[in-house]
Amino acid sequence: MKEQLEKLQQDALAQINAAEELKELQDIRVAYLGKKGSITGVLKGMGKLSPEERPVIGEVANKVRNTITDAIEEKSQKLEEIALNKQLEAEAIDVTLPGRKVQAGGPHLLTSIVEEIEDLFIGMGYEVKEGPEVETDYFNFEALNLPKDHPARDMQDSFYITNELLLRTHTSPVQARTMKEYKGEKPFKMICPGKVYRRDSDDATHSHQFTQIEGLFIDKKVRMSDLKGTLNAFAKKMFGEDRNIRMRPSFFPFTEPSVEMDISCKVCNGEGCSVCKHTGWIEILGGGMVHPKVLEMGGYDPKVYSGFAFGMGPERIAMLKYGVSDIRSFYTNDIRFLKQYHQA
Ligand code: DAH
Repeated sequence: MKEQLEKLQQDALAQINAAEELKELQDIRVAYLGKKGSITGVLKGMGKLSPEERPVIGEVANKVRNTITDAIEEKSQKLEEIALNKQLEAEAIDVTLPGRKVQAGGPHLLTSIVEEIEDLFIGMGYEVKEGPEVETDYFNFEALNLPKDHPARDMQDSFYITNELLLRTHTSPVQARTMKEYKGEKPFKMICPGKVYRRDSDDATHSHQFTQIEGLFIDKKVRMSDLKGTLNAFAKKMFGEDRNIRMRPSFFPFTEPSVEMDISCKVCNGEGCSVCKHTGWIEILGGGMVHPKVLEMGGYDPKVYSGFAFGMGPERIAMLKYGVSDIRSFYTNDIRFLKQYHQA
């Protein structure tokens, strides 16, 4: 029996030694020391022993049990330690690795240009207004001195939704809306940036949807020279102090007189080149003195009040400022294009 126990001890120790996981040790404990374990099994036969042999074998059995228990204990501590080390190793942070680069986005070029223009005019006392993109025929045309049969309506091919509703073809209706809001009593300066829509075929310089910024200043004694001074300040801040402006007579139904404004070409300094089509000048916006009829329809007495208005396309401004050659670049969201204009 003694040999039997010693053999069991030997086997158990060998198994413990070979064990690689805590779970295995648990199984070994059950197999040898559990209620139905091999040692327990041997001890059950003790009844058959002589009274002299019993304490001797009992002692051996206890020793074997303790040895196995201790060995399991020792080995499980070892395995736990190994497991912990493994975990620590796996979770270790290599502080010498270079950090991961954060891919930060930035404002879209069009957004930046619109905000830049807004800031310029806010600095001159203008407030920023908004208006609906789905507009009534009245505000988009009629209130701007374009009655239903007016031929100038053809200048702007429109997307009609119903007979009376359309996608606004320009931001000018916000002029009429703002005059109405101030009830013909209050002088004001406002700009309105926003999307506009035209039935155009898209190409490098045309888009069925684009952006405009409208400007309107109404007060007593507003003069053409005020418009010129304002736009001159704008052009120099936007394109550089060395730029000059010139105004040419033009026609818009909502202004009288109407002008188109050019800036001197940056590429050739006014000498004439392919960018300015050899004129030395580049057209950037339209404007003029608010037509008395438009003032009147807006509720302002044209004998008391006068005003100037202007409208520009921020895409065009950005194209001239940064040499962008295709207006579609603003809408296709090619990250390689947009990234070039992110300020750090
Ligand atoms: N609404 C005009 C257009 O889309 C631009 C414009 C011209 C706006 C003259 C104005 C203005 O306010 O005075 O072509």
